[in-house]
Amino acid sequence: MTKGKRTSEVSALLRDALPCIHTASLPGPMAASILARRQQALPAGIASVYPCVIKRGEGAMLEDVDGNLFLDWVGGVGVLNIGYSHPEVVEAAREQAGRFFHSMMNITTHEPYVELAEELNDIVPVRDQRRKTMFANSGAEAIENAVKLVRAATGRPNIIVFEGAFHGRTLLAATMTGKRAYSEGLGPFPDGVCRVEFPHLYRKPQGFTDAQAIDYALERLEDALVQQSPPQQTAAIVLEPIQGEGGFVPAPFDWVRSVRELCDRYGILLVADEIQTGFARSGRMFVSDYWAEGGFAPDVIVTAKSLAAGLPLSAVTASARLFDAVRPGLIGGTYGGNAVACAAALKVLEIIRRDRLCERALHIAQVAREAFTTWKQRWPQLGDVRGIGSMMGLEFVEDPTSKKPAAGLVEAIVEEAAHKGLLVESAGVYGNVIRFLCPLVVNDFQLQAGLTILEDAIRENLNSPTTTQER
Ligand SMILES: Cc1ncc(COP(=O)(O)O)c(C=O)c1O
Repeated sequence: MTKGKRTSEVSALLRDALPCIHTASLPGPMAASILARRQQALPAGIASVYPCVIKRGEGAMLEDVDGNLFLDWVGGVGVLNIGYSHPEVVEAAREQAGRFFHSMMNITTHEPYVELAEELNDIVPVRDQRRKTMFANSGAEAIENAVKLVRAATGRPNIIVFEGAFHGRTLLAATMTGKRAYSEGLGPFPDGVCRVEFPHLYRKPQGFTDAQAIDYALERLEDALVQQSPPQQTAAIVLEPIQGEGGFVPAPFDWVRSVRELCDRYGILLVADEIQTGFARSGRMFVSDYWAEGGFAPDVIVTAKSLAAGLPLSAVTASARLFDAVRPGLIGGTYGGNAVACAAALKVLEIIRRDRLCERALHIAQVAREAFTTWKQRWPQLGDVRGIGSMMGLEFVEDPTSKKPAAGLVEAIVEEAAHKGLLVESAGVYGNVIRFLCPLVVNDFQLQAGLTILEDAIRENLNSPTTTQER
């Protein structure tokens, strides 16, 4: 896979190519020189660890400036569910750009915004059927708007968030984020954010069953409503259906159902942050679709990332009744719902439906889970394989008894995989989880090639004598 003949010489299309590293080392010479310029020109605070500089991307593949071909299982951290540069999305954006780029919705109306809001109102499963949607540019900005919305709608100041949560890098979103590394030294922080334990079933208290761990997490939440923020002061509970940066930890459905009941008992709103989980990755358009079928749909859903396939766009969808409580002028902004991004998003939604990407996500999940489960049986350091649909995480530990996080091992695996042409990313409060965020347009050969590279990278770092044939 690595130092072989460049696959692009055989396959005309990058989107059908397999990973192939042909430079003697990584980064290659062109990439090294741009990375050196990056180091001089950019703040180190924008962290990156990958030894490549992208020249172009198609489907699940990227070609770097030295002609190396990488299979990208990070996909802009969940932005590329329909892959790089989908030709129909490129065309939709080009057509809209030819008409006009920009019109600020607080001033002049443009139809792509209205049409996309109508589409999302149809498919985003917040519990009320009469829905409204507003657009912003980034996930964090949409989260901020969701907080403004729930405060305006309830007249209550506080929100409850969870340990392990990630909601973005603006000051409020960073305050809502669990891991202090994202906000250390940046205080003072906005008020009104309370944090509660999340039911991480792999790391549940010793001796507990899953059901007991869920009950325990609910007790912690009820306790927060006594000790941190009484119900009449609590506007909303905000949660990720699968914690992303927190380590790909699914929120157990039984727990979400009970959180929903708790919200209803106290008039608290339930907000789902589907920024990373949304748009077919889970096997449904949103994880909240599973929740809605179980009768515990949220009141507000925040989306971004794969919505516009890489153009900056995020959305807040909620019951019209809630949005009607927000005074004109309180929300909006210069760029939110940019016309080119909205035109791209309309095409993305069409492609996800037409190409049955939810079904594709379930197929990818089945193939990947089979491999991951075999690895877990083989290697005790692979402590947990979890996820919903094709949003899966592999948690590595030093040993299965202590479950001590093996962050160094994951770092080494990520680096080794990149050197073999596969980009994967770590996640987790302790950085000991590998996330599987492969674009849903990956083909079956690429999927197998990626699994082989990842398996080899794990084996080499565990010094295990087992071979691929044993799979
Ligand atoms: C669940 C979740 N919420 C919010 C964000 C923040 O989005 P953005 O980086 O677009 O501000 C992210 C980004 O990774 C995310 O995964």
